[in-house]
Amino acid sequence: MDNFNNLIDMDDYTVQQWTEIIELAERIKENPGFYTEACRGKIMATLFYEPSTRTQMSFQAAMLRLGGSLIGFDNPNNSSVAKGENLKDTIKIVSTYADILVMRHNQEGSAKAAALSADCPVINAGDGGHLHPTQTLTDLLTLKCELGRLDNLTVGFCGDLKYGRTVHSLVKALSCFPNNKFVLISTSDLALPSYIKDVLKGRGAEFTEVNTIDEAIKNLDMLYMTRIQRERFDSEDEYLKQRDVYRLTKAKMEYARRDMIVMHPLPRVNEIEVAVDDDPRAAYFRQANNGMYVRMALILYTFTKQPKVKPLLTGEIHNDVICTNPKCVTQTEKYLPHSYVNRGGILVCEYCDERILL
Ligand code: NCD
Repeated sequence: MDNFNNLIDMDDYTVQQWTEIIELAERIKENPGFYTEACRGKIMATLFYEPSTRTQMSFQAAMLRLGGSLIGFDNPNNSSVAKGENLKDTIKIVSTYADILVMRHNQEGSAKAAALSADCPVINAGDGGHLHPTQTLTDLLTLKCELGRLDNLTVGFCGDLKYGRTVHSLVKALSCFPNNKFVLISTSDLALPSYIKDVLKGRGAEFTEVNTIDEAIKNLDMLYMTRIQRERFDSEDEYLKQRDVYRLTKAKMEYARRDMIVMHPLPRVNEIEVAVDDDPRAAYFRQANNGMYVRMALILYTFTKQPKVKPLLTGEIHNDVICTNPKCVTQTEKYLPHSYVNRGGILVCEYCDERILL
């Protein structure tokens, strides 16, 4: 529902609000003991339709450290989903049991779909290959802690820029700060989706696309490594062609600046050699730890009244137009209004950002 502080995409909050959440996270990190009763009596539901270690457990640990309680599932096959219940009914009911709902789901746009029928705030913990805003808050906090700023950065993104939802959310967010430059390191098959490149262009952010780490690493303030998202490929063969193309090694780190940091949302598969972990520039374990503090801050922020930035749906309803993205939530949750933003004859799906040419 529209009157809650949902976090579906980073633009549900203003840059000023992101800063407030990050600053709150810093205060919590310094003095966690002060917040142990802050959510006493509140219940968080974590509904994880997809695997997760860090996101799920850091949310759960965050709520427990704030004195709150938990309900939920991490295997939808143990819930009525296995009996064929639709998303709407599950969310409708669970959101009356809980005060805040955190959901990860394999379909793009599923978090927005959930928020439409929820009776409590919904936090998107990853909707397919689309967005992952709470990882972005984690990443922004990490940049602030490690480098002291969120602007004037040259950042490299390497690996699966096509299906990597953490990349999508972070690139969009960093383009809101002045003078950030982006180096996009991927094969042509796994390049950043054009709708995100258009966001960069629209905001006047400088970006280059290259296909090796070697040259690019020399000038970076931060290198964001990512896992090739095996589960998002149409076939195993296509995945195998992309697997292990990029690997950050100790030898490659020799070319990086002494003050560059390496980030990774984790889990790592092969893309960072384990020997890199001992390099003080490897920030990914510190980053994962920041995830818990930023989620504590986000939970507290969600429960305070905030000026609403954006309603859930703003576009035109065209129930006769079917979204062309096979992974869009509207493909299976048939009751959803087919809502599109009309950008000069191109309809942009309000759930998954797919563009449809009329
Ligand atoms: C990421 C995700 O789930 O998108 N993990 C995470 O939340 N920390 C990245 C990944 O799975 O590769």
